[in-house]
Amino acid sequence: MKKIAVFTSGGDSPGMNACIRAVVRTAIYNQVEVVGIMQGYKGMIEGGENFQPLTSRSVGNIIQRGGTILKSSRSKEFMTPEGRKKAHENLKANGIEGIVCIGGNGTFTGAEIFYNEFGIPSIGAPGTIDNDLYGTDLTIGFDTAINTAVQAIDKIRDTADSHGRAFFIELMGRDAGFISLAATIAGGAEIVMLPEIKEDHHKVVEFFKSRSESKKSFSIIIVAEGNYEGGASAISQMLNKEIPGFESRVVVLGHIQRGGSPTAYDRVLASKLGYGAVNALLAGEKNKMAGLINNKICLTPFIDAIQQKKSLNGDLLTMIDIFNT
Ligand code: F6P
Repeated sequence: MKKIAVFTSGGDSPGMNACIRAVVRTAIYNQVEVVGIMQGYKGMIEGGENFQPLTSRSVGNIIQRGGTILKSSRSKEFMTPEGRKKAHENLKANGIEGIVCIGGNGTFTGAEIFYNEFGIPSIGAPGTIDNDLYGTDLTIGFDTAINTAVQAIDKIRDTADSHGRAFFIELMGRDAGFISLAATIAGGAEIVMLPEIKEDHHKVVEFFKSRSESKKSFSIIIVAEGNYEGGASAISQMLNKEIPGFESRVVVLGHIQRGGSPTAYDRVLASKLGYGAVNALLAGEKNKMAGLINNKICLTPFIDAIQQKKSLNGDLLTMIDIFNT
């Protein structure tokens, strides 16, 4: 393999740049040329200036930067055969023989379909704040996102304490509650509501009804974006209806969780997985995600990374109940 491409796709995550840097420098070390594709699959379809040759210098001074220098997108067109045909023509015209794709579920699904149609091998690196990919203990960006969330919770805690208020804080995670679960433990919140656990708002109602006995003056409740009864606003409204005179405040943290300089942990993880992805591609592997399991770089077929469900750590849920006294 003499020339590979790298791109980022789907929701960006802090550490993607550190991963791009690792991919480019590992490839160049192995005498392989690298092309960066701007805007993910969208840029692959549009071609032209979206295909940018990358050198070691092009990825200098980016390890500390959030976002992605290659930009990102969620491409609907790549889901169509016509879109993928155009993408293939552009890859061929640029002499690309292999791909490192940095992203999540949608990114790897696209790469798998693309290989089956056109035979261009891909290796993925898991870049998403959600940490919802099977085959890696942590995804690139998750650690930074939970640190951002915890900093916000700490600040909200100050004002919650001053006013003796209840706060519902909504954290990202459409389908997965990993961010909310970790932030609940680290932020010392009392209850967490997750997409994976069909626990309705009555648990929170009971909690507030018995709160006077526990002598708590303020409360922090974390609600994951994909909670099945709705987000933080919906839950707070349900409580307003069920508990007369109940007063609370809602904070939706949103995309703040996606930005910012990656933590040292995310930089190291991203570097290992970028390095691992290129080595796997050059060793002839394909359609697999490079992940970190028990601190070792491991390859998991895309199909498993996408379809298998990574389970929540049940111990953390038990701990939240125990600590919530
Ligand atoms: O996949 C990461 C994520 O941040 C999810 O937690 C969230 O549901 C989604 O992306 C938001 O996507 P967008 O930025 O396209 O609105």
